[in-house]
Amino acid sequence: MAAKIISGTQIAKQIREELKAEVAEMKEKHGVTPGLVTILVGENPASVSYVTAKQRTAHDLGFHSIQDNQPEDISEADLLALIDKYNQDPAFHGILIQLPLPKHINEGKVIYAVNPDKDVDGFHPVNVGKMVVGEPCFLPCTPHGIMEMLIRSGVETSGAEVVVVGRSNIVGKPITNLLLQKREGGNATVTICHTRTRDMAFHTKRADILIVAAGQPKFITADMVKDGVVVIDVGVNRIGKTPEGKAILCGDVDFDAIKEKASAITPVPGGVGPMTITMLMKNTVQAAKQISGLA
Ligand code: GUN
Repeated sequence: MAAKIISGTQIAKQIREELKAEVAEMKEKHGVTPGLVTILVGENPASVSYVTAKQRTAHDLGFHSIQDNQPEDISEADLLALIDKYNQDPAFHGILIQLPLPKHINEGKVIYAVNPDKDVDGFHPVNVGKMVVGEPCFLPCTPHGIMEMLIRSGVETSGAEVVVVGRSNIVGKPITNLLLQKREGGNATVTICHTRTRDMAFHTKRADILIVAAGQPKFITADMVKDGVVVIDVGVNRIGKTPEGKAILCGDVDFDAIKEKASAITPVPGGVGPMTITMLMKNTVQAAKQISGLA
């Protein structure tokens, strides 16, 4: 039986409509316009395309939003000073520094430099710590988006065997924490696999829900999953270009083969990607409310 396709595009559209109405009300009743700055260092093509999509969505929702492009060779000190400028600027409630950064810049220092109240990426250790103990905080956008997809698609996580492939700070570690929590979309039994896992297929075959953020095209093949699995594919791999020069994308799972075995699966593109951007918008609205005393 072919799997149900979990469309991030559709779910994201629904959440964006909710946000658009909320933003209009904030403006009209309280004179507050959510402000977002996205900082891009250098010209990595994937990063340029992500930041452009974030800016487009922010404008569509009625945010005050700017993109601040900085040269590849900006010094760490100058980047930290720029972040501090936005920390002080009341027009911006959210600050996002697109990762990865060039090698000469210490990513940890940059993440620490963002005011946790404006950390709409949810990467600052204050927010990470709050997330782990289950306190209200900015949740990192990709795992937050995955949780929303699971909940809004009616996927039962309570008691489920969830296997996460990938242990990054952006996806693997936070999604594991969220799935463990005693809340809607949580209560799962979670295993994390990574590059040193001895027998990957042994774990992935046990999964009721498989979340893959491995960064390798078609890393998970059909023989590595069981019938009826729910697959969330976080991978975005550029595997070529169309004659018009558009990037051809594929995920970390072999979608065509696995969709015949799975009960539900996210596509690439149109799966987790639109959800990540939407959760950034949701976090920025939340930041604007908190900073303006509306929440
Ligand atoms: N690079 C890849 N994903 C992300 C993300 O969610 N936030 C930022 N800032 N950079 C990223």
